[in-house]
Amino acid sequence: MNLQAIGKPLARVDGRAKVTGAAHYAAEFNQPNQAYAVIVSSSVGLGRIASIDTAAVARLPGVLAVVSHLNAPRLAYNPHKSGIDPPVGERLHVLQDDLVRFYGQPVAIVVADTLDRAECAAAALRVTYEARKPVVDPRDKQAQPMAPAAYGPVEADNVRGDPDAALAAAAVSVDVSTDIGRQNHHPMEPHATIATWNGEQLTLWSKSQYVANEQAEIAAVFGIPQQNVRVICPFIGGAFGTSLRTWPHVTLAAIASRQVGRPVKLVLTRRQMSYTTGHRPRTLQRMVIGATRDGRLTSIIHEGMGETSRYENFVESLTAGTDFMYSCPNVRTRYRLVPLDIGTPTYMRGPGESSGMYALETAMDELAYKLGMDPIELRRRNEPTIDEGLNVPFSSRSLMQCYAAGAERFGWAKRTPEPKSMRDGRLLIGMGTATATYPALQFPSSARARLLADGSAEIEVAASDMGPGTYTSMTQVAAEILGLPVGRVRFSLGNSDFPPAPPHGGSQTMAAVGSAIRAACLAVQNMLVERAIANPRSPMHNAGLDALEWVEGHLRRRGGISAEQSYAEIIAAGGGAPVEATVSVERDPEIAAKYSMHAFGAVFVEISVDPDVGLARVRRALGVYGAGRIVNPRLARSQCVGGMIGGIGMALMEHTSLDARDGRPVNAHMAEYLLPVNLDIPQLDVHFVDEVDPHVNPLGVKGLGEISLVGMAPAISNAVFHATGRRIHELPIRIEHLLKL
Ligand code: MOS
Repeated sequence: MNLQAIGKPLARVDGRAKVTGAAHYAAEFNQPNQAYAVIVSSSVGLGRIASIDTAAVARLPGVLAVVSHLNAPRLAYNPHKSGIDPPVGERLHVLQDDLVRFYGQPVAIVVADTLDRAECAAAALRVTYEARKPVVDPRDKQAQPMAPAAYGPVEADNVRGDPDAALAAAAVSVDVSTDIGRQNHHPMEPHATIATWNGEQLTLWSKSQYVANEQAEIAAVFGIPQQNVRVICPFIGGAFGTSLRTWPHVTLAAIASRQVGRPVKLVLTRRQMSYTTGHRPRTLQRMVIGATRDGRLTSIIHEGMGETSRYENFVESLTAGTDFMYSCPNVRTRYRLVPLDIGTPTYMRGPGESSGMYALETAMDELAYKLGMDPIELRRRNEPTIDEGLNVPFSSRSLMQCYAAGAERFGWAKRTPEPKSMRDGRLLIGMGTATATYPALQFPSSARARLLADGSAEIEVAASDMGPGTYTSMTQVAAEILGLPVGRVRFSLGNSDFPPAPPHGGSQTMAAVGSAIRAACLAVQNMLVERAIANPRSPMHNAGLDALEWVEGHLRRRGGISAEQSYAEIIAAGGGAPVEATVSVERDPEIAAKYSMHAFGAVFVEISVDPDVGLARVRRALGVYGAGRIVNPRLARSQCVGGMIGGIGMALMEHTSLDARDGRPVNAHMAEYLLPVNLDIPQLDVHFVDEVDPHVNPLGVKGLGEISLVGMAPAISNAVFHATGRRIHELPIRIEHLLKL
């Protein structure tokens, strides 16, 4: 690869549109004659709707409709599951019956001519319930863990060797139980949908990380052909997984619009985003590790349990990292679900790995202390040569390079290992480290490339950009393959009319969509080559394919012969019509079976703890990653900084607490759902080790984003121990954990 565009620290091609307000988000696609819908949410956590007094509200000024289970259309709710829907169970069927399954479930929708009037009427709607006490705590005696009925990519039980016998015989062991509280995504942009029907055609301007699936899902819900639904979402103001699935508010917007015969806008409140659009499931884990005196792991037992709703089995890769992270002959991982009276959880910021690796990396740190060994040395001694879970080699693995580069850059050698041994004035100082990993996913994707008469290119994919810089990086890939300046490439996404892409999640957009764009650009170039060869007036007439090459958007004969033709010239010779190709690409299944593909990283954190008030603050952090080729180092750095900030939130702040009486999220607002703000963010450093992976895909990209969250929480927790001598096995770590030091 010549690499004139890939690898360059290009500024965002959509940056100007974003800062000037020219970029339109879902709620900004206002339509003529638009009405406004407001959801009425259940105020009990379990039970039955006894009555809804719609008549009083229907008379209020401006009210166009009040829809509840009493008068809602019976919807088809045809089965439809994509890769991001839970493999078992049925999505919530809104307004189809009188059952309340969780606190905040939509029980009615009020539509009015203005937002104020809709809100006023929704607040006035009187709903009575026959309420029961929900079970919302996985430690509740009534909560029943179960093996997931189906796992998708997740294995419920994995065993190699004899972990129990090996543990009994181990010279040293640790046994750690962790509790990571429920978290909500809380992106800046709220969920929003503007729905409008034109006969049987439904258009949705809707916040979505997966427009192709939103189209298919809503078509299934309404029992209409997929081509009757169009989903448009060019910009996303952060999502972190909460817009991967299509949640009930999209259906409600479409119901409302059909009911009143007008376009309807529905925006969720911040409060509603705490209970109807998924969350990171609370997890309870036990991690037991046995080792020899010289620090070789002999046994790992990882038991993980995640909450789910009663109506769907949400599964994530909670225990997956444990299977391959370290060399160990005896390993058992077990995954269980606990159905509760809550809304279904969903993927959130490094789903699975960020929770599972917290348990593993906390236990590894404890083992290092028990052995009196440097935690990096412990990992070095257990660095595997292959993926011992799958018994195949890694496509590439740079973990030790990450630790070496990170230790150097961070100044790890200055750390004195003894807990409570480092101070800055009255503050206790701690340094911690942890391993990060995330799978290098690549689902099938398609893409369309079109060369225009002026020699510029258009690329279209139904992909999304929730902030990592997809517009920019994809433009770079196309510019690279086509040999055009980036300014001559126009990339469009976020429209279900475009060729489908996989979900904009799992850190796979670069690998999946980038690979498809590369292939589409090559395909369109090949079409032009064939044209040139077939054209008697072309200097390439009758040339062999091997005798030609593309250089900076010009086709020429190899070996210095001067005649060449530009895209514009070849297109003009063919009559001037644009030339386009639409292709689909998937990872070669043979290669996928031969290698274990993951990105790896090493995270370093320095914290201070105020011993008088128990306040832990991150002072600096470094993430070093081996993630294959980095397409845009500037945006990659920015993306990793974002992930690391998410990790600070996970470790020290973020938690949605539920009222045990009714499952109500008590901090369903930004005043008390704590997120890191600028003052909580110190100097964050990101470094990428050079990693060439010839197996993952022709671009050599593993994907970025989620990995940068994965190691942060354990690194912070390990630093808290180093600073204070206190192990906290609960996230977030709060002031009350660190009192009386
Ligand atoms: Mo990410 S949780 O896969 O959007």
